Amino acid sequence: MHDAGPVLVFDSGLGGVSVVRAISQQMPRIRLVYVADDAAFPYGDWEDDALRTHIVELMGRLIAQYRPTAVVIACNTASTLVLPALRARYDIPFVGTVPAIKPAAEQTKTGIIAVLATPGTMRRDYTRDLIRKFASLVHVRLVGAPLLAAFAEARMRGEAIDERSLAEQIEPCFVEIEGRRTDMVVLACTHYPFLTDLFDRHAPWPVCFIDPAPAIARRLASVLEGRRVDGGPGTAAFTSGRPVLAPVLQVLRQYRLAVA
Ligand code: DGL
Repeated sequence: MHDAGPVLVFDSGLGGVSVVRAISQQMPRIRLVYVADDAAFPYGDWEDDALRTHIVELMGRLIAQYRPTAVVIACNTASTLVLPALRARYDIPFVGTVPAIKPAAEQTKTGIIAVLATPGTMRRDYTRDLIRKFASLVHVRLVGAPLLAAFAEARMRGEAIDERSLAEQIEPCFVEIEGRRTDMVVLACTHYPFLTDLFDRHAPWPVCFIDPAPAIARRLASVLEGRRVDGGPGTAAFTSGRPVLAPVLQVLRQYRLAVA
């Protein structure tokens, strides 16, 4: 067990920064190390076995390098697949990110919710089990959107995105049954909170988009109770080693992450 290390926050790209945002609001003093596995982005397109092996091996190297007190897997596509393997292999607490289906099912007034995810998360048994367990009494539309994570990445690089195709990607979330309409959309990919203003603009009617990041930060806070964590400004690292563009540096700086 490593105590007094940083908290490692991990995603395939920049989406996990939405989780960093919530963590730094709740626990501004803890030191975060953000690792984006951009060499392997997008995880949504990977085969399950290959992705599991890849993440478990990479995590071993990251734990040896950063000696974190805890790890946040700030990625639904990874968490819904590899959490059991990571917990079995490494003696360190892992906080995962899984689709917020339970709160959506509890809060819906119309009884119709949508889960907007990567194709990987959409396919997972884990996601379907959550629906069976927590949303059996509501109508759930599960939507796998192949382009949205890349759109969020492009936006953070300062690039324009094709809003027509963004609108097409979210369109299946909006269901109308006998006068009742979708009222909750679960953002089941950590990249999507960076697109919600565009989702609002292109939604055919107003809905509540559920970002799980504040709940993940609360879960981390309870996991850290009684453990010593480093304080201080955070760092960010990218597995590709490609130069990080100025707009991305600026986004990272907003959350006190400097590129190592
Ligand atoms: N941010 C990731 C998630 O929460 C996935 C993006 C990807 O496909 O790599 O699912």
